[in-house]
Amino acid sequence: MAQRHVVLPLAELPAGESRIVTVRGREIALFNLAGEVFALINRCPHEGAPLGLGLRVGLSESEKPGCYTHSRPGELVRCPWHGWEFDIRTGQSWCEPAKLKAKSFTASIEPGATVVKGPYVAESLPVSIEAHYVVVEL
Ligand code: FES
Repeated sequence: MAQRHVVLPLAELPAGESRIVTVRGREIALFNLAGEVFALINRCPHEGAPLGLGLRVGLSESEKPGCYTHSRPGELVRCPWHGWEFDIRTGQSWCEPAKLKAKSFTASIEPGATVVKGPYVAESLPVSIEAHYVVVEL
């Protein structure tokens, strides 16, 4: 059964940034998309590069040569080794969406007052009721 892990004060994951944490022995890449948090396994499904170190990019699409649209700024992560791109919201690959996906985990932002009541796992993280925290289910 998945446990809810308090992994990081939200103040350490500002909007537009990424962090890598270890939960139950697994490296997890955390992303803050304009105030929403998402968690992917920190291992690219191609050859294992750390996705949490990848460049954040937007979606570029083209219906015909010379015409491009750009959307969803910062919502994809580009693998630092070979450049494959993954949707941070779902882990879905954009080069092989039917077959490739980076494993994703449920992540949320919880107020400290909720976190201190539990049930959560906050191994070595001191918790303050005034702060907000990133929680990952794993
Ligand atoms: S290891 Fe990620 S694209 Fe190759």
